[in-house]
Order: sequence, then C-alpha cells, then structure tokens
Amino acid sequence: MIKKVTDFLELRIGLSEIIRTQFKDYKVPKNINIFYTLGIVAVVAYLVQAITGFFLLVYYIPQADHAFKSVQSLMTDVPYGWLLRMMHVVGSNLMVAVVFLHLLSVFWMGSYKKPRELTWVVGGLMLLITLTFCLSGYLLPWSQLSFWATTIVANIPTALPVVGDLVAKVLRGGDSVTGITLNRFFALHVALLPPLLVSLMGLHIFLVRRIGISAPPSSDTSTKEWNEFRHESYPDGIPFYPNFVLKEAYMIMFYFAVMFFIITFMPTLFLPEQANMPANPFKTPAHIKPEWYFLAPYQLLKLIPNKFLGISLQIILVIIFLLWPFFDTKKERNILKRPLLLGVFLLTIAVWVLLTIWGQYS
Ligand code: HEM
Repeated sequence: MIKKVTDFLELRIGLSEIIRTQFKDYKVPKNINIFYTLGIVAVVAYLVQAITGFFLLVYYIPQADHAFKSVQSLMTDVPYGWLLRMMHVVGSNLMVAVVFLHLLSVFWMGSYKKPRELTWVVGGLMLLITLTFCLSGYLLPWSQLSFWATTIVANIPTALPVVGDLVAKVLRGGDSVTGITLNRFFALHVALLPPLLVSLMGLHIFLVRRIGISAPPSSDTSTKEWNEFRHESYPDGIPFYPNFVLKEAYMIMFYFAVMFFIITFMPTLFLPEQANMPANPFKTPAHIKPEWYFLAPYQLLKLIPNKFLGISLQIILVIIFLLWPFFDTKKERNILKRPLLLGVFLLTIAVWVLLTIWGQYS
C-alpha cells in the first residue's frame, strides 16, 4: 500500500528527488549541537497547541455566562477532556520556554548576524505573537485568575498619553473587562493569530533553508564577505537525514516527557486555586499576578513610579530587541571573544530572573 502511494507520488511530483535533495543530500555543519534542534521543537510545540486547541474548541462556549462551565465540564464529563486541556495549558507555558531558549541559543551563537538579520526579526515577531496567544488564551476559561490577570494587563496601555485610553478601550471593548472582551480575545486567539504565526513560521524556515543554517561560531572560519547572495552549504557536513533528524527526534521526545511529567506530578503548577473559581468582577482576589513570563516586565512597570516612562522604556526595549542585528554589526560571531556583549547578555538574563523572582514574591 505504502509502495503504491509512493509510486503514485514519484510519477507525479518526483518524490525521491525531493527527499534526496531536501533530506539525505542536505548537509548541516559537522559540529552542529543540540541547541540547533530548539527551533523544530518550537514548531512541534505549536502543532500540539493547534491540535489540542481544535478539540477544546469543539466543547468551549465563548460567552461569559457559559465559558467557565463549559471548561469545567470538559475537565470532568468529556472523556479525556482533562488531558486535552492540560496538554494545552502546560504546552502553552512550555512553548514560551522553548522559544525563549531558542532565542538565547541563536543569540549566543551569533546566528542573527549578516545575512540572517531577517530571520531574527521574523523570529522576534513570532515571539510577540506567541505571547499574545498566551495573553488572549488566558482570559478564555473566564475564571477569577483569568479575569483579574487580564484586568491588570489590559489596564497597562492607559499609561500612554493621548492614545492610551483608546487602546485600552479597543482591547477591552469598553471601560472594563466584560463578555465583550472575552469575544475579542477569543476571535484573536482562534482566528487571527494562528494564520499569522503559521505564515511567519513558513517565512522563518524558508529564510533558514534559503540562506543555509549557520555553523557554530567556534568552527566558523569563513572570511568571505557577504556582498552578494549565496547559499551557505557544508559539503563535508553530516546528512540532515538521518543524523540531525535523530537529534531532533530526541529533543521532541524530551519535550513530551517534560509535558507529561508536569501533567502527572504537578497538575496545579499552572492552574492554581483561583483558576477553578468562576470570574467575579465584584471580588478582587488578594494575590493576583500575571503569568511567569510577564512577571519581569510587570515588575519593572511597578518599580518605575511614572507609568508613562515605564511603558515607553519597555516599548523602546522591544524595538531594540527586534532590530538587534542592525545595532550589533560587528563581524565576530563568537560571543566569548566579545566581553562587552557577553556582559550585556549575562546582565540582561540576571536582571530578568531577578525581576521575575521579585515579581513572584512581592
Ligand atoms: C514560534 C517561534 C519560533 C519557531 C517555531 C522557530 C523555528 C526555527 C527553526 C525551525 C529554525 C531552524 C533550526 C534552528 O536553528 O533551530 C530556526 C532558526 C533561527 N531562528 Fe527561530 N523560531 C522561532 C522563534 C525565534 C525567535 C524568537 C528568534 C529570535 C528573535 C529566532 C531566530 C532564529 C534565527 C536567527 C535562526 C537561524 C539560525 C541559524 O541559521 O543557525 N527564532 N527557527
């Protein structure tokens, strides 16, 4: 049967040539390391979200009166509904973690440098979209946690002069978080963000394949200038398939192992008590915080007394992050040979971690 299908495709699209040129004859650098697999793990993480999300959508009711109940009945009445929801909730947190790690790894290896600036910019946009996915999805269960965390975040734009109130109003569909906000976030979460992320993912992977993956900086001895387009190839490298694909498969399995470990042994890690209470706009819970990945920017906003200054600083930092390859134009890719860059990198991570811990316990 399989042979019949492959013969059919062979005749019509030349399948064996695609497999040979794109997998077996496609060579990656000899000393490619495990961190290069994080990009594909992020793709798989997204696929898990899309598939589990589709099944959640079958039962979820996007209305303020029914949303909470529909999610609870999914957890208790629908066969394996709890598993799908837990995979989606834990998966969203793991996807953010994987994308962060991928970002740190491409930064460490200087893979964003000429001619890969666009790959970085598109990746940066994908990170922002991933975070918007989390933000919009967080409100959907309409629990105390989702309602109050969204109330805090949706209030942030009001610090901007002139347009601030308008932005917050458009986001919420009014002066406070209501059923209208739920509908807006739902539309964003299931209709706008998925095609946007998938298109950017296609562009990102196209750029990686078109330019050729970068070699780890320690082995990058190329002195050729990038004055015109060329594909970076590695004739003495290792085959993408099966050698590198096997490494990717290990990491994907590790990803699922972590996911099921959390679901089995730490089921309340991302679903604390407040997540199991229906939203009550008249009862503010005592300790409400954004998700762990928003804690650092949130804490920074709290520390700067002038709200306008705080939000402007964050917008500037995001712009610098997105356009970073155009600021750091030095040819040297090995961060260990660039003490200043290494210092900035380590300091940024230390500040981020510190702010996150501070945010968690304050
Ligand atoms: C949903 C998020 C993302 C997905 C699915 C994704 C996927 C991928 C894949 C499959 C690769 C090729 C293999 C690899 O080097 O790992 C890659 C490479 C790359 N990514 Fe991402 N990525 C994402 C986010 C990001 C972010 C946030 C950045 C940085 C801001 C980024 C920057 C890069 C760069 C510069 C490369 C080229 C690496 C090289 O040539 O060695 N990506 N990405």
